[in-house]
Amino acid sequence: RSLKGLASAKGLVYGAAVATWQTDRDATLRRTFSRQCAAVVPEWEMKWGAIEGTRGQRTYTGADRVVSFASSFSLQTRGHAAIWHRNLPRWVEAALKAEGEKIIIDHIRDLMAHYKGKIVSWDIVNEAIEPKDGQPDSLRNSVFLKYLGPDYIARAFTIAAEADPGIQAYYNEYGLYHNDAPDVARRSAVLTLLENLKRQGAPVHGLGIQGHLTVGRPFDPGTFATFLRQVAGLGYKILITELDIDDRRLTQTVSERDRLVAEMATQFLTIALSERAVEGVLTWGLSDRYSWLNSSTFQSRTDGTMNRCLPYDDKFERKPFWFALADAF
Ligand code: XIL
Repeated sequence: RSLKGLASAKGLVYGAAVATWQTDRDATLRRTFSRQCAAVVPEWEMKWGAIEGTRGQRTYTGADRVVSFASSFSLQTRGHAAIWHRNLPRWVEAALKAEGEKIIIDHIRDLMAHYKGKIVSWDIVNEAIEPKDGQPDSLRNSVFLKYLGPDYIARAFTIAAEADPGIQAYYNEYGLYHNDAPDVARRSAVLTLLENLKRQGAPVHGLGIQGHLTVGRPFDPGTFATFLRQVAGLGYKILITELDIDDRRLTQTVSERDRLVAEMATQFLTIALSERAVEGVLTWGLSDRYSWLNSSTFQSRTDGTMNRCLPYDDKFERKPFWFALADAF
């Protein structure tokens, strides 16, 4: 059984994020991708900071290697992420301040031109909402908001559509699933943003729901289902773009942790996949071995064990999370 096979039998896509430092060194990872995934998304290589560390010197080498890895197995590549306040080159802030919108126009146009016909599905704007920042409409107080004003979101989509009218453009956001104050606020702000974009006629096709869940944070199936219905009701498609299930709060044995991670996956996927607007699921990696939650800069667990957040363990054995995905499709 493969996740991509089970998903595609239901008209859905399954895929995962990957980085070249992983595919370069690991034949098991490459094989697992080719067997399990219909789509890949570059974890780092397509971000602005990876492409244009020095202004005007764009290097698509890493990103192109992800695309050729994908096409060698006939997998699609998703584009991620054109406009994001993180992983930005250092020069961008001063340039935005001095020259304004030209800076994002140049970036988005070049990115879309480079991948025209090769990448259809794109995260054009990522994580533009942050209720805690206290700005109107809960927009994140990023360098884009500061120097371009609130209209930069709609503009980014328009610039992308003008450069490549064939793309499917997504607004991608995290923190939309739990039933605690931060996620409740972010869900409502995202709905407002999607309503505004629709009213302005911005070329936005879908909402990317990242899906970085944490076991132990409250999850209410009904509330989440209602949110999906509201997004779909506005005419947007929905893609789960970065699913992983953080087990940092759990102190149980590994097998009990795996069971609780899978239980949360089942709860989340049951709701997500019963909404017809949902097109598929991408996990943020395949194996715990390469998860960002286990990276040296971001060790999310403090007891020395790995975070068991992905469908495969660090030896590429399927975990209960894998079976939760398989059963949900
Ligand atoms: C993370 C990657 O996994 C890391 O390797 C990188 O250093 C930072 O970004 N939301 C996103 C992703 O949209 O791009 C992030 O990926 C995880 C959170």
